[in-house]
Amino acid sequence: MLLFKKVDQLQAYLSKQRAKGLQIGYTPTMGALHQGHASLVEKAKAENDISVCSIFVNPTQFNDPADLEKYPRTEAQDIDLLTQLGNDVLFYPSAEEVYPKDIVIPTFDFGPIDKVMEGFYRPGHFDGVVEVVYRLLDITKPDRLYMGQKDFQQFTLIYHMIKQMNSKTELVVCPIIREEDGLALSSRNVRLTAGNRANAPIISKTLSSLNDWLQKDTVRTVKEKAIALLSEVPDFKPEYLDIVDGYTLQPISDFEESPYIVACAAIWTGDIRLIDNIILKKLE
Ligand code: PAF
Repeated sequence: MLLFKKVDQLQAYLSKQRAKGLQIGYTPTMGALHQGHASLVEKAKAENDISVCSIFVNPTQFNDPADLEKYPRTEAQDIDLLTQLGNDVLFYPSAEEVYPKDIVIPTFDFGPIDKVMEGFYRPGHFDGVVEVVYRLLDITKPDRLYMGQKDFQQFTLIYHMIKQMNSKTELVVCPIIREEDGLALSSRNVRLTAGNRANAPIISKTLSSLNDWLQKDTVRTVKEKAIALLSEVPDFKPEYLDIVDGYTLQPISDFEESPYIVACAAIWTGDIRLIDNIILKKLE
């Protein structure tokens, strides 16, 4: 695997590959890689000539400085995993490379999409995500960008950003990878206490029950029931569980209201915040 730390060196390499007609698949990450990331890199590798992965813990997207400080950093393990996966290029830049002094990042208009859920509870978070993904895309100019469904609102915003940029990059969204007991893989899972780890799968179990419940009850009743159930779990503090239109991310009040419905949740388990989601309906 080739490792680049400098933007100009990575760009020189990628331009040569593009000139040969090779296609580039790109997976941005913040490291602490797990099988969820591996699934993105594997798909990027399978669908392109060159798989590029970046590791950059982006300070501008952490609305909580303590979360940034505690964010797991596992450089040697990450490099091992990427090597095993046959990833071709690792971009491992410093903050100075990603954000040089003269950098100008355009602003994008997402309407109400970035005001709800993560956007509401983590003020400034999406400004940082959009800023870094814009910059990383500008550096790598990939044919395809690989992101996970686990960050549902994140990939929705990036989809709109790419559209507004008139970019030719295709966004490929990959399914959530879960532990056997249903817990969605996340770099933050390693920080769960044993007790909180044992209870964490209740989040995905609750989300999986929603479709059944929605056959019998209104969206509002189902949402209240789910939040009440999650609130009873020791050490759990649900921040939100919203049942939303999958395109606009606005809450729905009737299950027949939209052809694309998703339930998204953020739950504090002790001092770790876990997010998860489930697509409840998607009519093609
Ligand atoms: O999902 C993540 O890991 C990050 O938000 C991303 C997309 C790598 C941007 O820093």
